[in-house]
Amino acid sequence: MTSKRLSKALAAAGIASRRACEEIIFAGRVRVNGEVIKIPQTLVDWSKDEIKVDEVAVHEEQKKVYFILNKPPGYICSNARPGKKRIVLDLFNEGPAGLFTIGRLDKDTEGLLLVTNDGGFAHKVIHPSSNITKEYLVKTPVEVTLEHLETLSQGARVDDKWVRPVSVSKVRRGTFRIILKEGRKHEVRILAERAGLKVTELRRIRIGGLLLGTLPLGEYRPLTEKEKEMLFKEKKC
Ligand code: URA
Repeated sequence: MTSKRLSKALAAAGIASRRACEEIIFAGRVRVNGEVIKIPQTLVDWSKDEIKVDEVAVHEEQKKVYFILNKPPGYICSNARPGKKRIVLDLFNEGPAGLFTIGRLDKDTEGLLLVTNDGGFAHKVIHPSSNITKEYLVKTPVEVTLEHLETLSQGARVDDKWVRPVSVSKVRRGTFRIILKEGRKHEVRILAERAGLKVTELRRIRIGGLLLGTLPLGEYRPLTEKEKEMLFKEKKC
């Protein structure tokens, strides 16, 4: 029978992305044949090893599911629940165990978020080689000027990297549109801050060729096969 690395086996079983599975392993939440294993590279074999995450048995295959959600503000993108905080997965009343969000939106950000149990698919969407852009609408209390747009388009340092938007444009008086390739934490808010703009609302409206459309806030639905493909087919709007 074939052996697989523990982190890969868990990701393939839909527990989380490969990286998140490594964190789950490091945290001591995984047992193999009753023993806590903290090394993601440990080889396991589904045909003879019993694997548990948080004391719940994990099985080799789970039906893969893919949802598009219009995330409301106030929910965090996390599988664990820090304190009493509301998490995005609270919005799901169906679907198999092991759902997770593809990438993250800040607690106060709303809009298009993908949720799946397919670690391989998530990895493909997030990986920089996919070249997928994300589009956001940002509201601010002041008139957006040419100077603001120029500063925004210069970019900003986010963590250790200079992030430059693919494009920035004014939509109306207090709203601008920004398109980015990176997926760095708080990137839009950091760019806006550098331009001297306070963010009062941040909404993601597109990932690749997939538009949020008219899905009501707080609701989700399965992605069609065509929509899954559209993610990788950039469509300017
Ligand atoms: N950029 C941000 O600053 N926040 C998000 O939630 C997404 C992109």
